[in-house]
Amino acid sequence: MKTVSERLDKNNIPKHIAIIMDGNGRWAAKHGKPRIMGHENGVESVRSVVEGAGEIGVKHLTLYAFSTENWDRPKKEVDALMGLLVHAIEAETDELNKNNVRLSVIGNVAIMPEEVRHKLNGCIDALKNNSGLNLVLALSYSGQWDIVNAVKHLVADVQQNKITQETINNELFQNYLSTAKMPAPELLIRTSGEYRISNFLLWQIAYSELHFTNKLWPDFRKQDLFEAIIDYQNRERRFGKTSEQLTS
Ligand code: IPE
Ligand code: IPE
Ligand code: MG
Repeated sequence: MKTVSERLDKNNIPKHIAIIMDGNGRWAAKHGKPRIMGHENGVESVRSVVEGAGEIGVKHLTLYAFSTENWDRPKKEVDALMGLLVHAIEAETDELNKNNVRLSVIGNVAIMPEEVRHKLNGCIDALKNNSGLNLVLALSYSGQWDIVNAVKHLVADVQQNKITQETINNELFQNYLSTAKMPAPELLIRTSGEYRISNFLLWQIAYSELHFTNKLWPDFRKQDLFEAIIDYQNRERRFGKTSEQLTS
């Protein structure tokens, strides 16, 4: 039997994969531990997935780590998540650098605690010359925030006569989104058996293939990422056309 990496078509690797990393709290409950232990164990999954994505030549990996709505969780959990973020950045920067990984962040980072922003900026700076995987953390992010933020900047540019209303189209609009420099994700993965988008990339996933798995995030490893990519490779992406149009 072929291994999962042998079954991967190396000529059809998505350039951009986005993941909704869900199920940390349920993983902790299953193991009789406090919720934060679920988040802590999720870091190992991030490590494994970043490594796997780099190995097979994925260009951009966007991880939904903290949503706009997650600010409404109990303060104790929010504080613990911020602390974990600071700790993980400190602990992982060297390894990311060895693996030639770059870091970027999307989201309303301005409202994150000063220490988190400081560590993030330090890590982004330390990795800025790397040419491998672009690891994108979605922090204090929501798809609706992204769109509204884009509209604000777009309107400002119209008011300052940098662009005219007539030139606004899909292509121009997406240049105002936080993902402007990236292609849209070909594949979106959500763990933990929930079938929803939870305000993640909204505009960008218009034609993404969706892969849902029951695995809880702290149990997810690069083999699971490869399985998701194999699932993606078996899809027919029609973009509104007929199947016959694609094969002729
Ligand atoms: C995902 O796991 C991590 C974040 C949203 C920060 P959850 O904390 O949502 O875990 P469940 O969904 O409660 O199991
Ligand atoms: C989505 O998970 C956000 C992240 C994974 C960061 P949630 O656990 O917050 O989503 P809902 O509330 O179940 O939709
Ligand atoms: Mg959840």
